[in-house]
Amino acid sequence: MEHRIIKPIFLAILLPLIFYSCYYDNKGDLYPFDVETCDIENVTYSSTVKPIMEASCVSCHQQSNPSGGVRVDTYKELKKVADDGRLWGSINHESGYSAMPLGGGKLSDCSLLQIQQWINDGSPNN
Ligand code: HEC
Repeated sequence: MEHRIIKPIFLAILLPLIFYSCYYDNKGDLYPFDVETCDIENVTYSSTVKPIMEASCVSCHQQSNPSGGVRVDTYKELKKVADDGRLWGSINHESGYSAMPLGGGKLSDCSLLQIQQWINDGSPNN
């Protein structure tokens, strides 16, 4: 008699728990960005990194009166801060570096991955 009551109650509690644990296992929660649309295979300076710089950085870091003496508006200038670690340190908000873009939100996770890939490739002029 006891079992006949306890079993349905037990199932009524357990089944939703199982469903909910699966429900939260979706891709959007596991990855903060869409891995399928973030292309880190074909990263180049001209098609990937330069447009990011132009959208978020060049306004403060161009030839005339560049902030902090740092320029990111040409390959040659960007290469300097890529090589000395300041590019990655600043956009990744690491301690010891000024967080960039100054006063704005961090670059998207996809942009960060793409720039990291470019730096890991040796920041080529491609
Ligand atoms: C609103 C203006 C502004 C924007 C936008 C901006 N910066 Fe800066 N940046 C500055 C200023 C001002 C400094 C120098 C003062 C400081 O270090 O806080 C600086 C410093 C830096 C430095 C040197 C950091 C260090 O710790 O030595 C790097 C590298 C840099 N910026 C890269 C970037 C990149 C890459 C972006 C785009 C993602 C960007 N900045 C966007 C204003 C800006």
